[in-house]
Amino acid sequence: MDLKTFCRDLPKIELHAHLNGSLSRSTMLHLKRFYADSGLEDNTNAFFDEFQIGAGDCRNLSDCFQVFSIAHALTSTPEALAMATTLTLQEFHSDGCCYIELRSTPRNTQYMTKEQYVDTIVHCMQKSSIHLSMLSRLIISINRSYPVSEAEAIADLAIESYKKYPDVVVGMELSGEPTVGKFQDFVPALTRARNAGLKITLHCGEVCNPEEILEMIKFKPGRIGHGTCIHPKLGGTDDTWSALCTSKIPVEVCLTSNVNTKSTPDYESHHFKYLYEAGIPMIICTDDKGVFTTSLSQEYRICAETFSLNQVKVARLALEACQYIFAEDVQKTLKNKVQDFINKYCLSQ
Ligand code: IMP
Ligand code: ZN
Repeated sequence: MDLKTFCRDLPKIELHAHLNGSLSRSTMLHLKRFYADSGLEDNTNAFFDEFQIGAGDCRNLSDCFQVFSIAHALTSTPEALAMATTLTLQEFHSDGCCYIELRSTPRNTQYMTKEQYVDTIVHCMQKSSIHLSMLSRLIISINRSYPVSEAEAIADLAIESYKKYPDVVVGMELSGEPTVGKFQDFVPALTRARNAGLKITLHCGEVCNPEEILEMIKFKPGRIGHGTCIHPKLGGTDDTWSALCTSKIPVEVCLTSNVNTKSTPDYESHHFKYLYEAGIPMIICTDDKGVFTTSLSQEYRICAETFSLNQVKVARLALEACQYIFAEDVQKTLKNKVQDFINKYCLSQ
């Protein structure tokens, strides 16, 4: 089997995908048409080209955060949000994903409350599990550039939603522009959510900030996102790197996202190689497949090609990812699924 087909057919686990960053061109066109047909203003004349960020894009990391408002303008009603969620889940499924933890920041809009926002996504996930051979779970996001009071309100909502939908809502996460806001301010909200039973993942080390990285590792999240600037050669320090090596917190690795936002100069210099050599658990993820024009199978293929991994090693990445999902009750089923694929297609290697 050629590598492209192998990476597509391999049952994969997606653990770091922001809903509004994952909207494909086709989904956005559907949404635009839906707004036009409903006589709604989408409040954006932005072309899709502005939403996508390619490798040679001259926008800096901060500029990259502006593009999400384009997607937000197209997911402001419950119907549009449902359409965006359903189409995005279908795309991950078509790409060979067998389990996804989709994350999103609940928003009050002119047409819905934050509660309705969460309910809408959860209902789409419940419905999609009937039609798709892919399990989906929700992680509720806190945006670090919003006031702390908003984070507290989202923690309340996350706890309520977890009680209401324990089979779908699994975690809470901290994301948003990494140069804005202080991690410590969000610790009370994150701790409350964790004490209520939600798992936590943190965007960590997207920019050079060793002090914050150490605080985050000390918090002991279930996983961290990116971890770009933790190794001493990449903006971290001996302390940040040894804290990660000791804690062995699984890292959600998003290769194309890091290259396209220029957090990493190119694939070859990506910190994947340091994490891999140090035996730190990793999960290959997309981050924002719409913004970065990628897919989960493409991320696996790029990883294999860049770091010369054979198909057995690539499949092992998918198998190991099963251990780090937040829905512990389905870990075994997923492991069996990936293992069956390995037995069928990798035994000769
Ligand atoms: P949403 O939460 O579904 O609205 O997805 C978009 C949001 O995800 C953005 O507004 C950011 O807060 C967050 N996000 C997406 N990509 C990144 C990233 O690479 N770093 C930090 N936050 C991100
Ligand atoms: Zn992210």
